[in-house]
Amino acid sequence: MSSEASENVLIGVIGGSGLYHLDNLTFVKHVNPETPWGYPSSPITVCALPSGTKVAFLARHGAGHSIAPSAVPARANIAALKSLGVRAVLAFSAVGSLREEIAPGDFVLPTQIIDRTKGVRPASFFEGTTVVAHAAFGDPFAGRLVRWLEARVRAALAHAARGGAVPGLHTDKCIVCMEGPQFSTRAESQMYRAWGADIINMSVLPEAKLAREAELSYALIATATDYDAWRPNESPVTAAEVFKTLQENARISRHVAATVLEELHAAAAEGDILTEEAGSMQYSIMPRS
Ligand code: ADE
Repeated sequence: MSSEASENVLIGVIGGSGLYHLDNLTFVKHVNPETPWGYPSSPITVCALPSGTKVAFLARHGAGHSIAPSAVPARANIAALKSLGVRAVLAFSAVGSLREEIAPGDFVLPTQIIDRTKGVRPASFFEGTTVVAHAAFGDPFAGRLVRWLEARVRAALAHAARGGAVPGLHTDKCIVCMEGPQFSTRAESQMYRAWGADIINMSVLPEAKLAREAELSYALIATATDYDAWRPNESPVTAAEVFKTLQENARISRHVAATVLEELHAAAAEGDILTEEAGSMQYSIMPRS
């Protein structure tokens, strides 16, 4: 166990586009662990909640947003968090909406994923080894953690609205992860809707797969920035449109994170909400004949 792991940093937060730091936390230190898969996207900030509980924050696209989704070192990110002792990951991400009722500014807790990455991202810790492993991934997010988050995120959103409109929270949704860097065509966007997808991003995979292989509980808190390209009489999404909503979404995401982190740690002491994936790989490794 490394010296960081003994510090008991149980919760990791991965920030997506626009979310490069957390609020209301006391800075403890930066760590930059080298893993067998290289260095994480950025040095990890270890910070303390008002109770003294430590959490780890990692900016998925680098501190200054210099890493494109296809180039994110997801294996190093997950391995680095695990090396600190992290058991559960709250991942934040900007997403496009594929449904009228999911408006820009709304929050989504997805429970399913469709993989439209193109095989260019290393997606397994076992790649290049002689171990053959098939992680169970039918339920790609940690169910208990996601259900626990629903009420807490809803309450945090009501509080963060500051008298303005309270952002909607949508649960039990399906996210499609595309390769990028270009956005989808109108035809692709329509196809994803026909497949049953509700939101779209470029980042949840392979992160969620690797978290499962590492036996970490993983939940995605998604924030909608745009309506992608499926609306017939509207212009398709542009990066400028995404950036427009990003700042406000990030402000509210920081509030959500600050609210749920303290409660999550307390809840973890009472049950296995942070450790529900521990041991999940036990029967995933193929025995050698
Ligand atoms: N991230 C934010 N909006 C997106 C979209 N429309 N497609 C893919 N990734 C996104």
